[in-house]
Amino acid sequence: MTLDVVKYAINRITKTNPELGKPKTEGELRMLVGETVTDNGIGGEKAFELFRDVLVKATVPIDHPRHLAFVPAAPTRAAILFDLVTSASSIHGAYWMEGAGGIFCENEAMHWLVSLTGMPKPAFGVFTSGGTAANLSALVAAREKWRKEPKNQNIKGLMITSIGAHSSIKAMAKVMDADVLLVETENTMTGTALQVLINGLDAIQRARVFAVVATGGTTNAGIIDDLSGVADVCEKEQLWFHVDAAYGGGALAAKSVRHLFNGIERADSVTIDPHKWLFSPYDCGAVLYKNPEEAKEAHSQEGSYLEIFKDEGAHGFNPSDYQIQLTRRLRGLPLWYSLATHGTEKYAWAVEEGIKLANIAGKLITAHPLLELVREPSLSCVLYRRKGWTPDDYRNWTYKNHEAGFALVTPTKWKTTDGYETVSRFCFINPDTTEKDITDILKSME
Ligand SMILES: Cc1ncc(COP(=O)(O)O)c(C=O)c1O
Repeated sequence: MTLDVVKYAINRITKTNPELGKPKTEGELRMLVGETVTDNGIGGEKAFELFRDVLVKATVPIDHPRHLAFVPAAPTRAAILFDLVTSASSIHGAYWMEGAGGIFCENEAMHWLVSLTGMPKPAFGVFTSGGTAANLSALVAAREKWRKEPKNQNIKGLMITSIGAHSSIKAMAKVMDADVLLVETENTMTGTALQVLINGLDAIQRARVFAVVATGGTTNAGIIDDLSGVADVCEKEQLWFHVDAAYGGGALAAKSVRHLFNGIERADSVTIDPHKWLFSPYDCGAVLYKNPEEAKEAHSQEGSYLEIFKDEGAHGFNPSDYQIQLTRRLRGLPLWYSLATHGTEKYAWAVEEGIKLANIAGKLITAHPLLELVREPSLSCVLYRRKGWTPDDYRNWTYKNHEAGFALVTPTKWKTTDGYETVSRFCFINPDTTEKDITDILKSME
């Protein structure tokens, strides 16, 4: 059984063009596999066979070179292998006392992430389960700082972001019981537009604002807000400045676009997801703080059973002090091993490949008589329309290509002056995607 599992893992890791699976209904899957959890067990071999031969085929491999929907991923082989090692090593990643050697590795990778942002000392961060958890951790730290003022203790906080911000910002505001105000643009949120919105608030609303969230690469279109302009406003208005670069943060490693992120070094907190554009397996997000002590004040948990971890004898960096989770997997370890294996230059190359693919797609679309760019490619995102198509046409086309095991490219919506237009969207992450893949996908729209 062990050999079966290891053989499967090696085969899967080496496959650059895995079968593009598709979902089945729960009823269909039940018919195919029967009962799997029984009083006496069905045995590891049988369970593994069901997974390998049936169940995994009802999943979509995120690293398929023609999976260009949502934000795909392309974990390196080194990172995946080390994910196995991370599990096999059974390390508790919350406190230095238990996880020192592993946390040391995570911190090596974190030093690199911090250096990409240019945030000055003592900036540092921790790995989280993803961008949602990183955003929540950062915004809770922001609100705790604001709540230190006695006058803010019993008022509901308010944060400002833009229409382009990721859905997790609104979702986490709900978790925090905070409100959200939107700068009405899906394009770049500028410092000027932010200032106009703040100037328009009445005194009660203004007193409730505790943070501004700018996006460093919107999920829908790869747009980077005017980070310097937003930083100026946050400084002047004394507001916490969070940059959600969950998707775009990988592009900090790419010289060709690094200047677009200028101003990120002035953020109070930054989210970057290595499981998006830094080639880590799921799940791995990261939250970085300008002043980690502020995060510690918000997140450090107290309990008689935890006191030993804070004792001098156990002293070291405790990741659980800086984000919402206590017990945690050492999710930064696969990134560390992959970085140590390949070096940071290889990462810069791989990210540049995604940007190049977006520009190639842009040219192919412009040259095609039936297609049109909705806007110029930004980072690795391309929005384009098939002239004459209705929302149903885009949906049917997506299902047809997926059904055929050919590609997964999904529609999205883009805000226009008259409302929202359904369009097609590419997001390139995988350096194994080729120009031919793009040409073939575009051909399937003719
Ligand atoms: C900009 C941005 N922020 C946050 C998230 C949420 O990240 P996660 O799905 O890792 O929780 C995403 C996911 O696509 C994103 O693109």
